[in-house]
Amino acid sequence: MSGYVTIAKVGDVKPGQIKTFTVQGKRVLIANQEGTCFATQDLCTHDGGPLADGELVDSEIECPRHGGRFDLRTGAVTALPPMFPIKTYPVRIQDEEIQVDLG
Ligand code: FES
Repeated sequence: MSGYVTIAKVGDVKPGQIKTFTVQGKRVLIANQEGTCFATQDLCTHDGGPLADGELVDSEIECPRHGGRFDLRTGAVTALPPMFPIKTYPVRIQDEEIQVDLG
């Protein structure tokens, strides 16, 4: 079931920025990687750290706590210590709004 909801305006998350928004009780991270926005859960699967305080490294996000990394496109772990992927959400831009399908 499609469940796209507006999460922010396009200008709210500039290229290179990471921000978190709370939507429907979920903390959703939006990362703008060179003009393309990705959405993931804002929770590292290693020890529950907030990923929004981390860094964008190409198409990956690095957790600020122990340096674990995840692929923003798939949620897959690309650097340990996390063992499990993070959840990702489909993103679309409509009428200058960032919309995320929370499923
Ligand atoms: S809490 Fe993210 S790598 Fe440990």
